[in-house]
Amino acid sequence: MDQLLVALDVDTVADARALADRLRGVAGGFKIGSRLFTSEGPGIVEELAGRGDRVFLDLKFHDIPTTVAGAVAAATRLGVWMLNVHASGGGTMMRAARDAAQQEAARTSRPVPLVIAVTMLTSLDQQALTDIGLTEAMSAQVGRLAALTEASGLDGVVASPHEIDIIRRRCGRQFAIVTPGIRGASDVKGDQSRTLTASEALSAGATYLVVGRPIIAAKDPRAAAERIVSECRAAIAPS
Ligand code: C5P
Repeated sequence: MDQLLVALDVDTVADARALADRLRGVAGGFKIGSRLFTSEGPGIVEELAGRGDRVFLDLKFHDIPTTVAGAVAAATRLGVWMLNVHASGGGTMMRAARDAAQQEAARTSRPVPLVIAVTMLTSLDQQALTDIGLTEAMSAQVGRLAALTEASGLDGVVASPHEIDIIRRRCGRQFAIVTPGIRGASDVKGDQSRTLTASEALSAGATYLVVGRPIIAAKDPRAAAERIVSECRAAIAPS
């Protein structure tokens, strides 16, 4: 299923490759984040992208605009399909990211990667926002950052499935909403606090779902992914 992106949150290339090989054809792409990237470097990104997998490089860049632009250009050269920055890095940083992706893609004759921004981490709740001095309601905070992301010319946001509605109301239909924090009724929530099931998130208007532990920690990851896909197909099929 095109919309299902599986988070390869493992420590070794061998484990990541084994998961990708098992999930290819069920997953619409693979997310490589800071855990695997820090432990093994960019080789696995290039390897999967080179064999035609869609790779979402989830390194959540958040730095001064010049540094982020350099990192985005490097990610573009790796052949990633999608990458992200933190919206709280501000409009100038986000525009620098978008420009770097476009320019590096043109310079190296590659497709332009989708550049999206994290609004608020899905592990944060209202109390966690208050603790870092953000007193607005979570939904207002997310809505404002999503609008800033769209105004900065980015392709979409990463957000909790609970915020899809507010984002769809403020941003256009073409704006991608990528939602982690996906859990089935019987899954362990772990450190995610704002969760929905996969089919609920798609019905609410998510463009892509990011699922990690419910698939990669399952005894049979392919069967777990197939279950999610059939649950989604059943939910969106016309009755
Ligand atoms: O295992 P789980 O399904 O919770 O994995 C969710 C993935 O999405 C993790 O790789 C996490 O880093 C990522 N993510 C997130 N919340 C965000 C952005 C990314 O959980 N706002």
